[in-house]
Amino acid sequence: MASIQLQGIEKWFDDTQVIKGIDFDIADGEFIVLVGPSGCGKSTMLRILAGLEDATAGSIRIDGQDITGKLPSERGLSMVFQSYALYPHMNVASNIGFALKTAGVGAAEIDRRVAEVARTLRLEQLLDRLPKQLSGGQRQRVAIGRAIIREPKGFLFDEPLSNLDASLRVNMRLEISRLHEELGITTIYVTHDQIEAMTLADRIVVLDEGMIMQAGTPRELYNRPLNKFVAEFIGSPKMNMMPCEVKDGRLLLQSSAVDGPTPTALPSSVAWLGVRPENMSLCDPEQAAITGTLVVCEYLGAEQFAYVDCGFDDVMTVRVDPEMQLGTGGKVGIDLQADRLHFFDQDGNRT
Ligand SMILES: Nc1ncnc2c1ncn2[C@@H]1O[C@H](COP(=O)(O)OP(=O)(O)O)[C@@H](O)[C@H]1O
Ligand SMILES: [Mg+2]
Repeated sequence: MASIQLQGIEKWFDDTQVIKGIDFDIADGEFIVLVGPSGCGKSTMLRILAGLEDATAGSIRIDGQDITGKLPSERGLSMVFQSYALYPHMNVASNIGFALKTAGVGAAEIDRRVAEVARTLRLEQLLDRLPKQLSGGQRQRVAIGRAIIREPKGFLFDEPLSNLDASLRVNMRLEISRLHEELGITTIYVTHDQIEAMTLADRIVVLDEGMIMQAGTPRELYNRPLNKFVAEFIGSPKMNMMPCEVKDGRLLLQSSAVDGPTPTALPSSVAWLGVRPENMSLCDPEQAAITGTLVVCEYLGAEQFAYVDCGFDDVMTVRVDPEMQLGTGGKVGIDLQADRLHFFDQDGNRT
């Protein structure tokens, strides 16, 4: 197991800077999820860690040792990709044991360790099968098995579940969680799926355009996003954003004052009010500071979302009681939970 320190990591491809100065410390045994939109530099960052790509600037330390210029094989990290890349002509046991074989480990020792890994990953019944005889989830477990058997100091996962269908993804997510509990190996896991990020991470690192927008526990990011980007990226359905202004200490929305929930001493730099769907509720439009038209209602069984057009660029999403039967087309008011408001300035920073 290992602690990992990233210092001033930059990456340029020709004259385009893709990673713009990443400083980050990962504790021994931590499960870190790197999340961000497509193209923000997640895979590049992981490949730099693995040694598959050179950083243009900066250094990487593992357990205090500088490994920046080291070969991938000298870093003690195992990487699992989205495409499983199993050897098609080898059965599961040979696929899992391959790295040990090439390292010259004896046959009896390989058998013992393959059996152990197969038990951990519940692959015991499948050891004689070829990859083509396996389901997607089973193949991904074999790919993980190949990574585990090398007893790495750290795991690097690049969107390992993206190729699986939705229900299998949930299963594999639980498997990966269980595996981390059991082995406690430092893990860096890349995904663009914020549900994977929330459920797996000790800490989430949100990347955008090669920069860290915020790093913290899932609860920290959800409850106190430091900027508009993180506020809107974490959470599903996403946080509602309303343009607003503060005049004479009063919060103005839709050019009407929001009297009830206005916190005292709002700075005049406030430009956006963010409120999560579960911190809004529908109310009598006559009594409300925000009003709009109920355009769509989505009933999901355990929850229900009302979509209200208030004249802002985006339609507001309000979580409502699933037992509530709502007709669309009518005028509704929206109430805000006063202690759950997020304010951002024109630059998108929390105020
Ligand atoms: N080998 C490369 N040469 C040039 N540009 C690249 C190369 N690899 C990645 N990029 C660019 O770097 C950016 C980040 O890519 P990547 O790390 O793959 O993003 P992500 O994994 O977050 O989707 C993208 O704009 C991509 O086009
Ligand atoms: Mg990628």
